[in-house]
Amino acid sequence: MEQTQERKKRIFSGIQPSGELTLGSYLGAIRNWVLLQDTYECLYCIVDMHAITVRQDPALLRRRSVAQLAQYVACGLDPQKNIMFIQSHVPQHAELSWILGCYTQFGELSRMTQFKAKSQQHADNITAGLFTYPVLMAADILLYQADLVPVGEDQRQHVELCRDIGQRFNSVYSDTFVLPEAFIPKMGARVMSLGDPTSKMSKSDPDGCVFLMDKPEDIMRKFKRAVTDCEAAVKFDRENKPGISNLLTIYCAATGKTVEEAQTAFEGQGYGIFKPAVGEAVVELLRPIQEEANHLMSDKAYLEGIYKEGAERARYMANKTLTKVQRKIGFVAR
Ligand code: TYM
Repeated sequence: MEQTQERKKRIFSGIQPSGELTLGSYLGAIRNWVLLQDTYECLYCIVDMHAITVRQDPALLRRRSVAQLAQYVACGLDPQKNIMFIQSHVPQHAELSWILGCYTQFGELSRMTQFKAKSQQHADNITAGLFTYPVLMAADILLYQADLVPVGEDQRQHVELCRDIGQRFNSVYSDTFVLPEAFIPKMGARVMSLGDPTSKMSKSDPDGCVFLMDKPEDIMRKFKRAVTDCEAAVKFDRENKPGISNLLTIYCAATGKTVEEAQTAFEGQGYGIFKPAVGEAVVELLRPIQEEANHLMSDKAYLEGIYKEGAERARYMANKTLTKVQRKIGFVAR
């Protein structure tokens, strides 16, 4: 497409305000977003429509959506450089999602790992929304003709499905969507739980999860209690030492050191030294972010200005794609 060669490459990503932001979402996603903001045209979304695929407390959802924006900015996302908005403020997401749902197979959605996991977790409330969640995610990405989607490893399957849906549509109706690629970091793509290092760090497991806004003493406590093994060697070995390997990954992501440098630094020292050192590195990493986020939360008008302007710009861009899609599939022009 001629237009795509001229324009800056575009990025889209989002996080659900279904809980507080975690160290996993920071290292797996947001930190990368900050690095991309100077090179790409970036849209970063607070995906509240995805969050309601499991039951939410309305007051908490509202508060978290705004707090998440404050935390995006505090992490270093510049509102002048990035379009930041709340998903439900751009109705084109829901409209395109319906259309794309008609180009997605039941079997494809049934194979999604996140659906399988979440439907086990919420066995008493497996909604149609939970099932069609990846279609809404595909709509998010395809609406903006995004080239890259910076996410953690767990979202790779959803981005691949998005490509498949986009490609299917393109082959039926001629080129309409840019086909996006997942952009996954080398370090931090899969931060594991501190309580069970064989499963992903996730906001639904508060003990194994460090939250971006956790108090320093809570962070230290969580790291001191992190599950490791009964040897005493600080050595990276994902297979046999998943706990220590996860702590090394976090330590390196927080300090910028390589795994080899960290292993040398802690050679001959026990876990009693290593675990608090990882905690301290994370406390220092998060301290300036927490201070800035707390400061921003006292200025609601500023945050409102960002998400309102973001939504206006996003609606304009989204509408271009949606109109094209509607025309191609045979809807009468409005
Ligand atoms: P969500 O809200 O579960 O997670 C947000 C982002 O954080 C990453 N992440 C992790 N990375 C490394 N280690 C972890 N333990 C960890 N936990 C979370 C996720 O990979 C993700 O990048 N479906 C998405 C939200 C979404 C979206 C989109 C993303 C909706 N529409 C369009 C990109 C583009 C989700 O549930 O992320």
